[in-house]
Amino acid sequence: MNLLVTGGAGFIGSNFIRLRLAGSGDTIVNLDALTYAGNLANLQEFDGDARYRFIRGRIEDPAKVKEAMTGIDAVVHFAAESHVDRSIADAAPFITTNVLGTHVLLDAAHKAGVKRFVHVSTDEVYGALGKEGRFTETTPFRPRSPYSASKVAGDMLAQAFWETHKLPVMVVRPSNNYGPYQFPEKLIPLMVTNLVEGRKVPLYGRGENVRDWLHVEDCCRAIEIVLDRGKPGEAYNIGGESERRNIEVVNLVIALMGLTTQVEAKAKVEPGMSAPISASTSTSTSPRTSTSAREPGTKNHKPETSVREPGTKNHKPVPSDRGPKTADREPRTKNQEPETDEFIEFVEDRPGHDFRYALDNAKIRAELGWHPEIQFEDGLRRTVDWYREHPEWWQPLKARLNRESAGFWTKDRQR
Ligand SMILES: NC(=O)c1ccc[n+]([C@@H]2O[C@H](COP(=O)([O-])OP(=O)(O)OC[C@H]3O[C@@H](n4cnc5c(N)ncnc54)[C@H](O)[C@@H]3O)[C@@H](O)[C@H]2O)c1
Repeated sequence: MNLLVTGGAGFIGSNFIRLRLAGSGDTIVNLDALTYAGNLANLQEFDGDARYRFIRGRIEDPAKVKEAMTGIDAVVHFAAESHVDRSIADAAPFITTNVLGTHVLLDAAHKAGVKRFVHVSTDEVYGALGKEGRFTETTPFRPRSPYSASKVAGDMLAQAFWETHKLPVMVVRPSNNYGPYQFPEKLIPLMVTNLVEGRKVPLYGRGENVRDWLHVEDCCRAIEIVLDRGKPGEAYNIGGESERRNIEVVNLVIALMGLTTQVEAKAKVEPGMSAPISASTSTSTSPRTSTSAREPGTKNHKPETSVREPGTKNHKPVPSDRGPKTADREPRTKNQEPETDEFIEFVEDRPGHDFRYALDNAKIRAELGWHPEIQFEDGLRRTVDWYREHPEWWQPLKARLNRESAGFWTKDRQR
């Protein structure tokens, strides 16, 4: 089929295009504005591939969308402003892209007689949960950030185009994705790349917020199944079935980077970290001495000479032998998180920070036979390795991000 993918230069979109070109006979048009989050390096391997065409353009531009829609059988709509922090700083681009742009795209798809349209929504449309319960597809929407409010509008427009025009729309609502090619402002790549740079990981509040982590390959497989076999007019949750507190994720990343020890002991005391950690991780010592903790992506080890505090411009010299001493580091327990931390900077909580998301996958499991296959600790280890092995991918993005701002809490943010 001839597929139009919007936002294909972003994180999930580029992973989806890679998956689809590997396993189907599709030709793919990628319509992307190349905002700060769009990166053609994500799909470099398809340069010159006759099955793939890139069009630079904005989804709220009707002429550009009409051009991209020519000869298209199906659409997968990823393009969005996607970072909650940025929506707190300035919601306007979120309304333009996620609401207006989605409408322009739906309208063009309807007029072009497109046969299938997958709208990529989010679990954040449902709002926040307490400690119990899960969102189902019929949970009422209660968005709590400008980002999620704009996604609600897009989601509802998509549903309305099915109800009103019978445009065969399927909506998917994935939980928090992680994996390769994610822009390093998002939690997991921010953690890994900060630690590689010798900086602390900024963590909102005390890191108690819970997210349901979904590996991007599992997410893309689900979207592919919905594209091929989903029922028009239906919405499908895509949950990772891997709920973790943010502090657990940070501690696991720190461990996977070889920056702490006794992971297995920690796994026993922290709920949710049930899977065993590989011996190479649990026994690794300092990243500068362990063979398993090689310096990311480089063959030559260079000791770090400075560390930048998150959100400041101050560089602090760090001795080149900085790093944990295996023998004297105690495992952390759930109730013994330190007030200060060598690797974590606890920062002022995000306004209206949703406490917990968790999705009920029963519908997509029963109707389409999908379930997440990548176990969180395995997926996280692969992800950490990917960022360590690809500094050439994230360093230019990180440099730009560092010039811009580190988060809404920075006093001198420029956005
Ligand atoms: N990343 C997650 O954890 C997650 C979870 C649930 C849902 N989602 C949704 O999945 C989709 C993809 O998310 P992502 O993390 O890959 O996002 P991303 O920010 O990495 O990529 C977004 C892409 O859209 C492009 N884009 C932005 N505005 C555009 C416009 N006006 N016109 C054309 N292109 C534009 C950007 O250039 C970029 O390539 C989004 O709709 C997001 O809301 C993401």
